[in-house]
Amino acid sequence: MRAEDLDHKELLELDPEEGTIRFAGQRALLLDAVAMGLLRKYLVENFGHAAARTVLTQFGFAHGWRMAEAMQAEFKWANDGERCHAGTRIHSLGGLFGVGSENRDPRSKEGMMIIASYEAEQHLLHFGRADAPMCWTICGLISGHLSHTLGKEVFVLEDRCLGKGDAGCHLFARTREEWGDERAEELKFYEKGRLADCLEVSLHRVTETLKAAERKLKEHRKALIQVAWSGDEPQLGIVAKSKAMRQLVDLARRVAKVDSTVLITGESGSGKERIARLIHEESTTHDRPGLFESARGGTLLLDEVGEVSPGMQVKLLRTIQEREVRRVGENMNRKLDVRILAATNRDLAASVTSGTFRQDLYYRLKVVELIVPPLRERRDDVLPLARALLAGSALQMKRKITGLSPGATDQLLRHAWPGNVRELENAMERAVALAPGSRVELEDLPEDSHALPEAQELRPHRCDKSSIVFRVRNGWFLYSALRA
Ligand SMILES: Nc1ncnc2c1ncn2[C@@H]1O[C@H](COP(=O)(O)OP(=O)(O)OP(=O)(O)O)[C@@H](O)[C@H]1O
Ligand SMILES: [Mg+2]
Ligand SMILES: [Zn+2]
Repeated sequence: MRAEDLDHKELLELDPEEGTIRFAGQRALLLDAVAMGLLRKYLVENFGHAAARTVLTQFGFAHGWRMAEAMQAEFKWANDGERCHAGTRIHSLGGLFGVGSENRDPRSKEGMMIIASYEAEQHLLHFGRADAPMCWTICGLISGHLSHTLGKEVFVLEDRCLGKGDAGCHLFARTREEWGDERAEELKFYEKGRLADCLEVSLHRVTETLKAAERKLKEHRKALIQVAWSGDEPQLGIVAKSKAMRQLVDLARRVAKVDSTVLITGESGSGKERIARLIHEESTTHDRPGLFESARGGTLLLDEVGEVSPGMQVKLLRTIQEREVRRVGENMNRKLDVRILAATNRDLAASVTSGTFRQDLYYRLKVVELIVPPLRERRDDVLPLARALLAGSALQMKRKITGLSPGATDQLLRHAWPGNVRELENAMERAVALAPGSRVELEDLPEDSHALPEAQELRPHRCDKSSIVFRVRNGWFLYSALRA
């Protein structure tokens, strides 16, 4: 028998009663071409190009191999050439592709020409024109058929393709040795272990995305919990239960609406930076672009301004008066169109009297002054703060800590908190790490209730002798002065 003798009608057997179709003696399915195209699209979009190509190549290979087996069992062939040719013929009868009148042998020097390819059509339909050949299933199919028929591994690759706008698909079948190194990368899609590699890459990508989402969720939950814990009036994560703190937050919010310079004073760890952030967040301008060059409307925090050296005080004063800055390494001034906040735990008025702080700068900064009271002067905040900080730490350390024992509560209320909120924060973090049970007990709190707060860490220096350096993050400018 010769390949040309194969006939549609004889190959196809329909059994409507059983609901089955046989093609060349094998149970076959009639699949919608667009559905196949959608499968390809799904694979590419969800698992990536490499994984999709691997699956479709190997699916094609299996299909071709199976068909070759069936043809060998069903028919007696005149010679090996006819058996090989029968593969091309039967798949074109199956509607997968159409071959031209010449160049039908993919093993020949000229290769095989395909003038219609369901796969190229589907690729064009779902992805548009490709920039590389993409009849992956068809190449796999012919490879599978030839490999079975010839009893050795043969791999088909295209060099032209309808899917990338060529007039036809041009296929060549070669052994690995015949292909040599030139297209070794493409032959990898025929390797059995290949899919695991591709999927590992996809899996890694998915894991990373999940991790990022989880981190974000954690931050949101933390913020939510802090709001939930903050008593009657949630204030953007600020705990303000005491009258003094409520008044301060109220004032800060009103100041946020106008553009004046604000000086925030208070003991170390009392929450000055927290108040500064509230003003920034409540400012009408806070969502402006974050880059310094387009810093209009941002917020500039001069943190620990009381530590600034006399030389730097002159520069700061000039900066604030002229509203211009010069960046390191530049010889041109830039407009500084930002709101200025300054914070210090020093008594600046006293520093002015003693001559270590310039009076003119002091008045420039102190247009509005917000005084953050020490924690010992607002006892009503201690427990709400402790609970909020506890919840935050527990969430961060993945521990289920539900609250404070009466003994611990008592101790928290008795302590003077010389290190203010930061000291309380450290105590809660330590308790979450140490508590053996689900509740913080007295023993979990620092032993010496009058212990001094841990030494405050030095903030990174953000300026040098001659310039002011700004750190820019989401429209938030942080200026940390050099400590004397
Ligand atoms: N009212 C508050 N509600 C919730 N958390 C607060 C509050 N006040 C302060 N904190 C938290 O306590 C810690 C110390 O606050 P912050 O850094 O604002 O203090 P600071 O006055 O700027 O300290 P320093 O003088 O050392 O610079 C921060 O982690 C802050 O988030
Ligand atoms: Mg601070
Ligand atoms: Zn093609």
